[in-house]
This record gives sequence, structure tokens and C-alpha cells, in this order.
Amino acid sequence: MPRVFNFSAGPAMLPTEVLEASAKALLDYNGKGFGIAECSHRGKEFDGVADEAIARCKSLLGIGDSHDVLFLQGGATALFTLIPQSLGANGDYLVSGEWSQKAFKAAPKGTAKAVASSEATNFDHCPDEATWQLRPDASYFHVCSNETVHGHRLPVWPKHPNLVVDASSEFLSRPHPVADTALIYGGAQKNLGPAGLVLAIVRKDLYPRIPASIPGIWNFQKLAEAKSMVNTPPTFSIYILLETFRWLERQGGLAAMEKLNAEKAGLIYGAVDGSGGFYKGTVAVPAQRSHMNVTFRLPTAELDDAFVKQAEKLGMVALKGYRTVGGIRASIYNAMPLAGCQALAQFMKDFAAKNG
Ligand SMILES: Cc1ncc(COP(=O)(O)O)c(C=O)c1O
Repeated sequence: MPRVFNFSAGPAMLPTEVLEASAKALLDYNGKGFGIAECSHRGKEFDGVADEAIARCKSLLGIGDSHDVLFLQGGATALFTLIPQSLGANGDYLVSGEWSQKAFKAAPKGTAKAVASSEATNFDHCPDEATWQLRPDASYFHVCSNETVHGHRLPVWPKHPNLVVDASSEFLSRPHPVADTALIYGGAQKNLGPAGLVLAIVRKDLYPRIPASIPGIWNFQKLAEAKSMVNTPPTFSIYILLETFRWLERQGGLAAMEKLNAEKAGLIYGAVDGSGGFYKGTVAVPAQRSHMNVTFRLPTAELDDAFVKQAEKLGMVALKGYRTVGGIRASIYNAMPLAGCQALAQFMKDFAAKNG
């Protein structure tokens, strides 16, 4: 079966090699006669998977002894709900789009603070650093480094002694400054694997802050000590994550991914900018344009619909924009090949020539 170019924002396409290797391991793991989803998480087979996944994640990101790698559940939503309860009620939040706003709303009212917001302009950019009203005594500073819905990113992660980053929709799409970050988390379903699994990287010096009232199942320190196996972890999801780490290494690591992702995004933004105004990007600050979620509109909603339908016939699916934003969103995570972006850019040119 040929696979289409799937521009879904998440759950999103995964590399075919990752799917093939995972499917094989699901049926039979290393000739054992059972699959990797059919053995105990306390046994040597899965223990080896967990060890290798942690080691490869650390090596890809250059993580030293200061941070732990955790595999969690409940989605990124569970994480941004848990963070204020674990690290302190008075977090500062940069509210730059759908997801950072949701994280802010999950934090305690009255003590958490929005240091800046771009809601007044429908989150068409991330507020300029000069406008952030950071509090020196805030327990942490939360940002979403790539706003999946609104299509912009922080080109460089800000500097803060207790930076917390929701990197869901750009995790491992480029190198990340882990050493300068207190906590990085992301739902796996965009760049890393299947939905439900969360990758979190936690600085160990945060552990003394975690109140005793947090149950062990949600306590970062206890989870780290148990290699994320306080209870039964989503073993097959972690296996797919491991295959993704292996695949990323074969691609040349995160610096190589960053270069390729910039080239891919450049093709589509090039088609937007070269269309004489037929396509309009939705992001007001060009330097903040996301390399993962490319958002733009056509002159009318009817043309948006026709664009989505015609693209689908050509094997390019899931291009419809998020319901609150409309227009088109092309999500081009690590697994989207260059050929997918070339095909979309060519289709954009052809469609504009016919309908412009
Ligand atoms: C940036 C970002 N943060 C958080 C979430 C929420 O993730 P989940 O559905 O895994 O809770 C999403 C989902 O799309 C997202 O894109």
C-alpha cells in the first residue's frame, strides 16, 4: 500500500522504518516467540528497551547528570496540570497561543501570572521579549516553544533560571538547550510516537520542591527512581519511541534534522511568499514562523475547502486548519519527507495559477 503525505498536526505520521520495525517487534521480539507488548515490564526484555531509550534520548540531546528522562502518561495536558502542583503555584506564563493559554488556565488563579499575551491579535505572533513582565520570585517560567495551532515558534528558547517548556510539537526537531532548561515536556504524538505517551526531561534539583502531598504515581523523583515504572508503563509506546530515537540517529541527529526541517518549511513558505498575495501566512512576525506547523489562508473559505479536497486527491491529506483558526495548516514534523513538502509547494503553485 503506498503511503500518502499526511500533514496531520497530531497524531501525525511516523517514519515508515519506525513503523516497520515496531510492527515486527509487536509480533515477535528478537526471535523470542512473543512480542514486545506481551512481556512483563519487569522482565529483562523490556528493561533493556527502557535502558536503551533513556540512553539514546540522553545521547541525542547531550543530556548530562543534571537531568532525568521520564516516560509519562496522560498527554501533555496532564503535565501542564501537574507542573504548578509540583513546582509551585506562582509560575509565570508566556501566553502566545492555544496551548500556552491552556497551560496558563490549568495553573492556580490569582498566583500564576501571564507575563504577556498576544490574544488581542488572535495569537498571530509570540509577544516580544521586551514586553514580558517577569517576576523575580516566580517559581518557574512556562513557555510553549512551538504553538501547534497558530503556527509560530520561539526561534531561540528564552533564558530563565527555571524555564519550563512545552515542546510537544517540536520535540527533537532541532537541538534543545537542555542544560539551560528546568523541565521540557511533550506529547509524543507529533514527532516521537503514538498518542498518550509523554516525554519529559526534568532537572534533578527541582525534586526537593515537590510537595509530599503529590502521590508517588505523579512524583517526578519517584518516577525517575523507578525508571518511569512506578506502575505498568505503556510498553509498546515506549518501544516505538525507542525506534524513533534509533531512526533519528540514523538521520544524523538533531542538527541534521534542524537543517532538513528548515529546508522543508522554506519550500512551503516560499510558495506562500511567491504567490503574489494569493496565499497569506497567518503569522505576523516572519522570524517566528514555525518549521513544524505551516499556517496560511487562501482568499476565501471556499477556496480553502477546494484546496484541501484537491490536495487529498493528489495524496496530500489532513491540510485543513484548526477549527478556531481556519485556513490551511501543513504539519511537517520530522517524519514528513522532503518530497512531501516539494509536492505540496508544487501543488500550491499550480492551484494559485488556476484560481488566482
Ligand atoms: C503544544 C501542545 N501542547 C499540548 C498539547 C496537548 O497534548 P495532549 O493532547 O497530549 O494532552 C498539544 C496537542 O496538540 C500541543 O500541540
